[in-house]
Amino acid sequence: MLRVLLWCAAVVQSFRFDARQRCTVQRHAAASGASNAADAATPAATPAAAPHTRRKRYAGRYPRNFSERYKEQAGDEATVKRVLEKGGTPAGTHVPIMVSECLEHLNATGADVAVDCTLGYGGHSSALIAALPPNARLLCFDRDGVELARTSKRLAPLASDGNVELEAVHANYARVGAELAQRHVRASCLLADLGCSSMQIDDPERGFTFKRDGPLDMRMGLAEATAADWLGRASIKELSAALRDGADFSRRDAREIAVAILKESVPATTTLLADRVRAVRLEEEDCTGDDAVKRAMQALRIVVNGEFAALEELLASLPDILAPGGRAVFLTFHSGEDRRVKKSFKKGIASGIYTDAARRPVRPSPQERRSNSRSGCCKLRWCVRALDS
Ligand SMILES: C[S@@+](CC[C@H](N)C(=O)[O-])C[C@H]1O[C@@H](n2cnc3c(N)ncnc32)[C@H](O)[C@@H]1O
Repeated sequence: MLRVLLWCAAVVQSFRFDARQRCTVQRHAAASGASNAADAATPAATPAAAPHTRRKRYAGRYPRNFSERYKEQAGDEATVKRVLEKGGTPAGTHVPIMVSECLEHLNATGADVAVDCTLGYGGHSSALIAALPPNARLLCFDRDGVELARTSKRLAPLASDGNVELEAVHANYARVGAELAQRHVRASCLLADLGCSSMQIDDPERGFTFKRDGPLDMRMGLAEATAADWLGRASIKELSAALRDGADFSRRDAREIAVAILKESVPATTTLLADRVRAVRLEEEDCTGDDAVKRAMQALRIVVNGEFAALEELLASLPDILAPGGRAVFLTFHSGEDRRVKKSFKKGIASGIYTDAARRPVRPSPQERRSNSRSGCCKLRWCVRALDS
């Protein structure tokens, strides 16, 4: 009898130990952000270490929600391939745009200091690491501390294999000039891929998408106020101006949308905001309800994150950031950004600071547009700093 009791106690103890171990693995996976495809490749997140979880059931054949797209987030090869083939972006990743065109205009093979102002998922930085000569330095900026940490951790082995010194800087790119001055270096090449990343857009919790309900947040990182906070303080006049500047709405449409958004208490979620915008009858004929929502949310995102001010600061400090003969490439995604880059390059050419700049924007090839639907509106502009001004 005693032996049976001892055996039972041993079995119970072993279950407890197993459960404790499983909790630790789960906590570890959560703390290390194992939802990221790249993190899934690290030993801590290998399938062997992960606890068995029941397959989540989704309504149709394919998952629709960000949380249901866990296979993509875990880097499941077949799923990732299928999403890419359909022109989509696997959840938790970002497909870089016009990589070879960027490299061509950055002339990275001869660079000793390169700057990526917008690291994101690191697609462009990976290509830069491969192109840079040994002993070059790559400084990567991002205001999103979470993604910056994940991406720089994932790129570290690549950089060390290529003998490139990689430094991740958690800062707004408006500060690139100051950060480089502190390090007493100037950049041979600089890339800025503007806007937000697919990781930010796709996660409803970050409040950039109206396709799923989420808090009206929209902060990329260091901005102090959420979109809901900003709306809580904005007047109809201020919101109309933001809608005109950030999304090219006509004066009349911008005002109508602003009135609709602010007529009751501030919408706390993205879908509430979308409903109010969709209900507005616009004078612009070919702008459907969802187009209007997309544009309104873009304008709100721009103002919440102070995107135009940051871009203007970066452009103003570019002549000091670039070494003589240095090159810069900007990828823009709407007219407000492209106008600012174009104007600044034109002014630089007129004053002799730049010796050359793109006369027309470079556009993604039809093949790239087909294979990456998010590349459609992208424009690339480049400039070359003078040797002696
Ligand atoms: C389009 S994504 C870059 C994608 C990246 N090129 C890649 O290959 O994955 C833009 C990134 O820039 C960051 N960003 C946007 N505005 C910024 C700013 N003013 N300062 C620093 N980072 C910024 C966003 O957080 C986002 O991660």
